[in-house]
Amino acid sequence: MSGPLVLGIESSCDETSVGIVRGTELLANQTASSVELHARFGGVVPEVASRAHLEAMIPTLERALADAGIDLGEVDAISVTAGPGLMGSLVVGLSAAKALASVLNKPLYGLNHLVGHVAVDICEHGLFPRPTLALLVSGGHTQLLLVNDITSDIAEVGTTIDDAAGEAYDKVARLLGLPYPGGPVIDRIAAGGDPRAIAFPRGLTARHDLEKHRFDYSFSGLKTAVARYVERAERDQQTISVTDVAASFQEAVADVLTRKAVDAAQHFGSGTIVLGGGVAANLRLRGLMTERTQAAGIELRRPSPGLCTDNGAMIAVLGAQVITAGYGPSSLDISADPGMPVTKVMA
Ligand code: KG4
Ligand code: ZN
Repeated sequence: MSGPLVLGIESSCDETSVGIVRGTELLANQTASSVELHARFGGVVPEVASRAHLEAMIPTLERALADAGIDLGEVDAISVTAGPGLMGSLVVGLSAAKALASVLNKPLYGLNHLVGHVAVDICEHGLFPRPTLALLVSGGHTQLLLVNDITSDIAEVGTTIDDAAGEAYDKVARLLGLPYPGGPVIDRIAAGGDPRAIAFPRGLTARHDLEKHRFDYSFSGLKTAVARYVERAERDQQTISVTDVAASFQEAVADVLTRKAVDAAQHFGSGTIVLGGGVAANLRLRGLMTERTQAAGIELRRPSPGLCTDNGAMIAVLGAQVITAGYGPSSLDISADPGMPVTKVMA
């Protein structure tokens, strides 16, 4: 297999990760997470995350190089997450990438984290058909994207009007007294609950909402409904089944995510849906998406769960795509962009 040898660095939130690819072939993906340091605060503490990135960066880089069996001098380019994310976290990865690029005299590519979440699928399932509809579900974003070209032509066709899906998982977990991050815990315990036990609301699916928000999402009403349910049980001194609440909440999330993704794919003429972002690791979402895409005759591309949550491989894969498409490097003085829009692939 050929193509550029790219080293990708990701540090936008609480994972320090380095991935290495040759073209579309994944050679290494090493991640150090600071998640346990944040768990007792119930969310990521930016200052703590920045310091953890600083400590983990060089050991993670060394592990990735050893895993790929290459020397730093062999890489053709350095790619790095330029945004969106936490400013103090992004800056650590970006500084490391700039230092490597200038010492090694290699080109630097500052890339979009969200686009990386979608692009990572290429190393497992090949290049995307045009157009491909992407369902991007992470801790900070929930979007439907029409991808015509992963390096240059991405349109947002739907988004959440309030909370992101991952955020809803994290908030509901906290309501239920479960640890942070909520997604993986709810995913695990929901398997033992009844998804039909409680009829939680499906945001923006009523007829009048569909007129204006056919491809948009809303999860704040769902989160409030879970809170009310728990409060009512406490007031009435009734014990709740945490597994039933988790399963019913998860069903409501997976139901709207999949329903609107399939509708959008059909509407925009895409025969393929690709999943991306941390919530795409969710078992029920993956299962229901499989059922509904099969019924609609749509091809579903699901990256392995380990490539759904934040990782360096996605930044390396996207870097190789951008280079192969012929784009020149970023300037060495680019800044981190905490609010980088998904339509901007490169800084
Ligand atoms: O993409 P990601 O790793 O980081 C961001 O870019 O935000 O996504 C993190 C989010 C968190 O909200 C976490 O609770 C959620 O993804 N998550 C999951 C699962 N694994 C991670 N949500 C549901 N089921 C999972 N298995
Ligand atoms: Zn992410």
